[in-house]
Amino acid sequence: MNYIGSNVRTTVNNITISYTDEGQVEAPVIIFIHGFPLNKTMWEMQLEALKDEYRVIAFDVRGHGDSDAGSDHFSIDLFVTDLICFMDDLNINKAILCGLSMGGYIALNAVCNYPHLFDALILSDTSCAADTTDAKHKRLMAIEDIKMNGIENFADENIKNLFAPGSFQTKESEISRVREMIVSTSSESIFNTMHALAVRKETCSRLKSIKLPVLILVGIDDKITPLSAAKAMHENIPGSKLSIVEQAGHLSNMENPYEFNYLINKFIETVY
Ligand code: MLT
Repeated sequence: MNYIGSNVRTTVNNITISYTDEGQVEAPVIIFIHGFPLNKTMWEMQLEALKDEYRVIAFDVRGHGDSDAGSDHFSIDLFVTDLICFMDDLNINKAILCGLSMGGYIALNAVCNYPHLFDALILSDTSCAADTTDAKHKRLMAIEDIKMNGIENFADENIKNLFAPGSFQTKESEISRVREMIVSTSSESIFNTMHALAVRKETCSRLKSIKLPVLILVGIDDKITPLSAAKAMHENIPGSKLSIVEQAGHLSNMENPYEFNYLINKFIETVY
């Protein structure tokens, strides 16, 4: 029997969460957490590739995609609580967590705080570091820029850093999908999330305590969370594996899904 659920909704932690839940009943569960300011549809190629063997779930983080924003101030801790409540609601007591960028910040915190709920961790194009003063300043500037020039302009500027140079020739449809994800996120949610990202705490000092199998992936041309950030995590997470995704920037799962899927599949096979 398969789970058939695209854009299913459930209420947890006082908000409605939208998610896609596909694949095999009784199979190991893999939960995907998207980057900012994107949504669960960025994982389509991974869900498609893995659903014959696993139960695969991608959800919209609060304020993104079709999930409600709620009335609380956004924070990484709140996003983690949403995830834990969501897993509880779906009766999932063990999962592999796969997060890209902001999804990785959430995944790292979830695994550090609730290690008993996870079998393994996949960190893609992310970092354990907190924002520098300069990064915080850039977020404030981006908020002002959106207020003045609108979300479309923000999307166009953002996209320049999200993709590898080569992807601008070959990934037209992915680029327009990402643009659509960005412009369909409300400005208020973008501001709230930027604030949450700016004040998030580092997790680098907690990496040594992670006892799970961990795969770290990074696009070779990732400008936002580059190879050096991936290496720093790899050196501090005992037994972790680091793989570089060729022909990819920050959105390695969308830019090179073939290699990304191959790497995560190979890793997951070693977990079970
Ligand atoms: C993301 O892709 O989630 C963002 O680049 C994360 C961030 O802005 O720190």
